[in-house]
Amino acid sequence: MSKTSSIRCLITAGPTREFLDPVRFLSNPSTGKMGFALAQSALDQGWTVDLVTGPVCLTEPDGVILYPVVSAEEMYHQVDALFDVCDVFIMCAAVSDFRPLEYIPEKVKKEQAERSIQLAKTIDILKVMSQRKDKQCIVGFAAETNNLSENAKHKLQSKACDWIIANQIGEPGAGFASDTNSVTLFHKSGTETTLEPDTKANIAAALIQTIAKELSYES
Ligand code: CTP
Repeated sequence: MSKTSSIRCLITAGPTREFLDPVRFLSNPSTGKMGFALAQSALDQGWTVDLVTGPVCLTEPDGVILYPVVSAEEMYHQVDALFDVCDVFIMCAAVSDFRPLEYIPEKVKKEQAERSIQLAKTIDILKVMSQRKDKQCIVGFAAETNNLSENAKHKLQSKACDWIIANQIGEPGAGFASDTNSVTLFHKSGTETTLEPDTKANIAAALIQTIAKELSYES
């Protein structure tokens, strides 16, 4: 039995969808692969795993407790309900940053549609949960197209995380929908570790082992 086998881990995965009307939404290309790989690795570690996921086409690993959601607001409420009992919180979901200000309950006919959409910001789930941190180890992700290190360090501070896992979006073999990834781990102590590009499964295993090691030092 590992020292951290009684750990409860809350993971978010996938995109969120922010509907304008019943047939149109704002979203992003996240497929959920990284979050689901993390869930599998956390299970392999002997942890209990709550997986809150946006709409994806993946089968959940055997043994996770699955909470499907659609919008950022639904994801927030589900995370809010599970956060207090988790020991590790990994916010891997690609939450839509914006939602349409107004939801129109009937399909808008294109001839009548406005040519611009007013947007409102969605809630920053990671930031809100970090403000409530008690015992939790909090891990955020950063998706960046440029200035990776600078932006990741800023997120580490502004979202009060223990770790930020940064990945460069737009590079071949990394980021959205890819089976492989290339990440750098930024820790609140100031250390910075770049992992060799690898499959999301192997990267997830390395991340979970790193977190488990830190928890075992603390206990
Ligand atoms: N995140 C969140 N709630 C949001 C947006 C993002 O919890 N409404 C989380 C993501 O899950 C990730 C971290 O915040 O763990 C960083 O997300 P990212 O998209 O890289 O950055 P943003 O905070 O959205 O900022 P920007 O898009 O300006 O880079």
